[in-house]
Amino acid sequence: MNKGTLIKEGKAKRLYNTDQPEYVWVEYMDQATALNGKRKERVVGKGPLNNQIDCLLFTMLQRNGIQTDFVKQLSANEQLNKVVTIIPLEVVVRNAASGSFQEKFAVPYLEKLPQPVVEYFYKSDELDDPVINTSQALALGIIQPGESETLQQRALQINKLLQARFAKANLQLVDFKVEFGKTTSDEIILADEISPDSCRLVDIDSQKSFDKDVFRKRTGQLVDVYQEVLQRLIDSQEDV
Ligand code: C5P
Repeated sequence: MNKGTLIKEGKAKRLYNTDQPEYVWVEYMDQATALNGKRKERVVGKGPLNNQIDCLLFTMLQRNGIQTDFVKQLSANEQLNKVVTIIPLEVVVRNAASGSFQEKFAVPYLEKLPQPVVEYFYKSDELDDPVINTSQALALGIIQPGESETLQQRALQINKLLQARFAKANLQLVDFKVEFGKTTSDEIILADEISPDSCRLVDIDSQKSFDKDVFRKRTGQLVDVYQEVLQRLIDSQEDV
C-alpha cells in the first residue's frame, strides 16, 4: 500500500489517501494545540507518542469487542485506518469533575461523579464546539433517531475498558473525548484518536496530571508526561 495525496490537515494529524479507496493513511504530527487551535506549538516527539498510545488503546478496545476504524500501525508516527464519515460530535465521558464541567457547575476538582456523565459537543471551529443535546443534534440532521442511544452506550463501554486499562498503569481516567464515524454500510464505529491529547489522566497516588493539561496550563513538559504514559502502558501490558 502506498501513501497518496494529502486529503486533510487537522490540528494534530494529516490524512492521506492510499491506492485502496477503503483506507486512509494517518500521520501524527509534532504539533500541540489549545484553545480550539488558537494556540499552536511545535512539540518535537509528540506525534510518535500519540500514535503509539493510540495504536495500543485501539488494539485493546478492538480485542474487547469495540468496532473501530484502526487497521494497523505503519511506522512510529503513522497508522492505517478505515475510511469513515465522521459524525461531527465530540462525545465526552466524565468520571470525575475537571475542565469545563468543574467550571460550569462549580464542583471541586476531581470530585468523583456517582455515575459517568456523557456530554455531546458539536464539532465546529467557527462556533467553538458548542454543547449540543440529542434533540438539537436530531433537528440539525447530525444524527438519526436511535443513534444517540448507540453513541452513549458505546461511549460508556469504552469508558469501562479504558478505566480498567489505565488503572493497570496506575492512572485514573478522569474524562475523555471520542468521535465516531459511519462506514459505507452505515455502521457506527469508533474513529479518530484516543491519547493524552483527548483524555484527562492523573496518577492514582499523587494526582499529578499525565495529559494535555500540562500544555494547556503550562505546568510541565508534554513529551515527558506522554512518554511516561506510553511506558506505563507498555510495562502494564496487557490482559484487560
Ligand atoms: O474541556 P472539557 O472539560 O470539556 O474536556 C473534556 C475532555 O474532552 C478532556 O479529556 C479533553 O481533553 C477532551 N477534549 C478533546 N477535544 C476537545 C475538547 C475536549 O479531546 N476539542
